[in-house]
Amino acid sequence: MKLVYFSVTGQTRRFIKKVGLPAYEIDQTNPFHELNEPYILVVPTYDRDITEVADDFIEFKSNRQQLKGVAGSGNLNFGDLYVYTAKDLAQAYQIPMLFDFEMNGTPDDVENFKKVVSEIESKTAR
Ligand SMILES: Cc1cc2nc3c(=O)[nH]c(=O)nc-3n(C[C@H](O)[C@H](O)[C@H](O)COP(=O)(O)O)c2cc1C
Repeated sequence: MKLVYFSVTGQTRRFIKKVGLPAYEIDQTNPFHELNEPYILVVPTYDRDITEVADDFIEFKSNRQQLKGVAGSGNLNFGDLYVYTAKDLAQAYQIPMLFDFEMNGTPDDVENFKKVVSEIESKTAR
């Protein structure tokens, strides 16, 4: 199971580095890359003009079939808009919203997210 992410100011990238699992960073200038393996998408929260690289990636070749779930990085100061990008993707592509965290995540977030990833991994292997 790969973690696929993009990051604008580096917070999501820092979270992914702390998690330490195999990861692929979406290139914001060219998101059209076929992954060819199951993945969980981890996305920060911004206006759609910024986050549509995630849609471009998902919709490229076989990537949509390999998408197992989504996690969101956000900031609770945004209230009802907290992690809406990940929530919107979960709804649009009919996949589970697996996890959310603020900024680059706390040590607890890192541990809890790893558990979520391994649960999805064991389900996918069945
Ligand atoms: C212009 C701007 C708009 C944002 N809007 C939201 C938002 O609507 N909801 C939210 O939860 N976080 C919002 N955030 C917070 C970021 O999604 C959050 O800090 C995230 O960790 C950034 O990840 P990145 O550094 O990987 O890009 C916003 C941040 C900025 C700078």
